[in-house]
Amino acid sequence: MTQEPLRHEKYTHGHAPATLRQHAQRTADEAAAFLLPHLRPGMRLLDVGCGPGSITRGLAERLAPGQVVGIDLSRDALEGARREAAARGLTNLRFEEASVYEMPFADGSFDVVYAHQVLQHLRERPSAVREMLRVVRPGGLVAVRDVDWGTAAYWPRDRWIDRFIEVHHQAWYKNGGEPQMGRQLRALFNAAGVDDLEISAAVWCYATPDETSAWGEAYADRLLTSPMGERPVEYGFATRAEIESMAAAFRAWGTHPDATWMFIHIAALARKAV
Ligand SMILES: C[S@@+](CC[C@H](N)C(=O)[O-])C[C@H]1O[C@@H](n2cnc3c(N)ncnc32)[C@H](O)[C@@H]1O
Repeated sequence: MTQEPLRHEKYTHGHAPATLRQHAQRTADEAAAFLLPHLRPGMRLLDVGCGPGSITRGLAERLAPGQVVGIDLSRDALEGARREAAARGLTNLRFEEASVYEMPFADGSFDVVYAHQVLQHLRERPSAVREMLRVVRPGGLVAVRDVDWGTAAYWPRDRWIDRFIEVHHQAWYKNGGEPQMGRQLRALFNAAGVDDLEISAAVWCYATPDETSAWGEAYADRLLTSPMGERPVEYGFATRAEIESMAAAFRAWGTHPDATWMFIHIAALARKAV
């Protein structure tokens, strides 16, 4: 694969502080629960699109002394990830700037290749899966998890949140990504010729005052300060005033005593043929 997709990829969420802050709260215990029973100390693992690296750190702690590598396209995200890993004294973890389409690793370099909430943002999803299968050893695992925004269910209904979901889909598709990736993971791995495949699903559910206000505040901030709000305006899908109304709606929704938000996250565990 050439550098083409790297230059043209438009990551829908961007790396604004509000976005990185939210992603940095993710843990290996939750985000890799479907993979953890297969992990053993000493395994070599690659985390593709590691972002701020909080999940990567959790994986490195479990796999020590096995080597863990996180790659991402974002220098800012990687810098933060390196700082946090050093602060925790993790010596079996390193981060490199690289694209999933052209990874600087020999065939079969890893026992496990993991990607959390990444395929949904890629233009060339079949190429990414091929490259992940290339760098995992025969008998090793490719483990991915993606949300499916088509499953977002929330209460109480708000016309600006409904509008956000619509506009978010439009901008995401325009960027070349797939907001409903979760339901298509089986098809993607089938098309890649994987025979040994397990699909599972988990729900993110926010239904306490702390959870809903954190979710509402984070989406309000991301709408106002990141490409999540900028791109829909740039593409003509919404006006800035509408984006501000969506942000205000998320803030108000987050403090509503009945507020509830759920969506499904689908995982694929693919074992490379020996
Ligand atoms: C939604 S974030 C997920 C971050 C992390 N895996 C997590 O779940 O917290 C998606 C990440 O994929 C990265 N990314 C997007 N396109 C990429 C590519 N072609 N190669 C490597 N990483 C990429 C983005 O920079 C971003 O950090």
